[in-house]
Amino acid sequence: NVWSDAEKASIYVARTIAELIVQQQHLGKPAVLGLATGNTPKKVYQELVRLHQNEGLSFHNVISFNLDEYYPIHPESFQSYTYFMKHHLFNHIDIDESNIHIPHTDLSPDRILQYCNDYETKIKNYGGLDLQLLGIGRNGHIGFNEPGSKFDSTTRLVNLHSLTRLDAEADFGTMEMVPHQAISIGIHTITQAKKILLLALGERKSEIINKALKGDVSTDVPASILQTIPQVEIVLDAEAASLI
Ligand code: GLP
Repeated sequence: NVWSDAEKASIYVARTIAELIVQQQHLGKPAVLGLATGNTPKKVYQELVRLHQNEGLSFHNVISFNLDEYYPIHPESFQSYTYFMKHHLFNHIDIDESNIHIPHTDLSPDRILQYCNDYETKIKNYGGLDLQLLGIGRNGHIGFNEPGSKFDSTTRLVNLHSLTRLDAEADFGTMEMVPHQAISIGIHTITQAKKILLLALGERKSEIINKALKGDVSTDVPASILQTIPQVEIVLDAEAASLI
């Protein structure tokens, strides 16, 4: 699914999410959404906010689970994904705060394992994710599942790859400030979603998109697992699709 520019691709993704929310509302059911951060989904969230403000889209039935969060980080720090989600989406829509789930990583190390297992259980208790929105890292990571992550992995503490940390430097100011770890839902957790939308925009993603979609399915490129999953839709702008 290739669009001429980032705006059109993002609007398509936002409308697909909105349709699911409305469809679930008609059925009297929650819409369980797996959400992503990074530059890529910003315009998607902008369009969802517009649909809420101008076209009456309600998020009252939305349950959200974010993919990942740096570890450790304070949720109020502006590089945190909690801050990102509030700023780009949650502060502008009518989602119930108790329905929002983002890994909280200002935890002592001895609580992490239990916390990750509980996050996984919460997703299961809602019947799994109806839709998972994904971006892709330049090394092929999805969420913070870095190269080498097992395809059967679940929510856990992970070490960040040097390229991932380098790409985060602009947000943190200096490399020393970029956390070395994160909590991320697993590849297994992601692939269990009923629908997966991977959005990639811009020329800098073209090489990894080609590798992930056309290369071998291998843990060296975590996103390559998506080749084997029928419920995946890949949404690209022309630049990200340029090497396929
Ligand atoms: C981050 C996030 C991912 C995201 C990726 C790409 O590390 N943890 O969920 O998909 O990087 O980011 P961007 O969209 O800014 O290129």
